[in-house]
Amino acid sequence: MALLNIVSQTGESKSVEAKEGLTVMEIIRDNGFDELLALCGGCCSCATCHVYIDEGYADKLNPVSEDENDLLDTSDNRKANSRLSCQVPVTAALDGATITIAPED
Ligand code: FES
Repeated sequence: MALLNIVSQTGESKSVEAKEGLTVMEIIRDNGFDELLALCGGCCSCATCHVYIDEGYADKLNPVSEDENDLLDTSDNRKANSRLSCQVPVTAALDGATITIAPED
């Protein structure tokens, strides 16, 4: 279990409990953030689950795959800490991380 601080596109934040075994996308979606469209359902083919993950947690994340990297490159809003949330599994190491939903492209 990890406690994540989710920040919406309008800056509202909410602390949510995240169960290991789910992805960050599933946690955000299941906690009522409708702005995270996640249109492909987690198949790494839409980039509508784009988030920014707390830079202090960069070394605790799984690496970005080539497919994820290519999709992130299609976003005008890509930053150094961008991830597709469907590609990031929840782990206890993420406890306390702030995750901000990226603006829509
Ligand atoms: S939900 Fe489509 S790439 Fe993440």
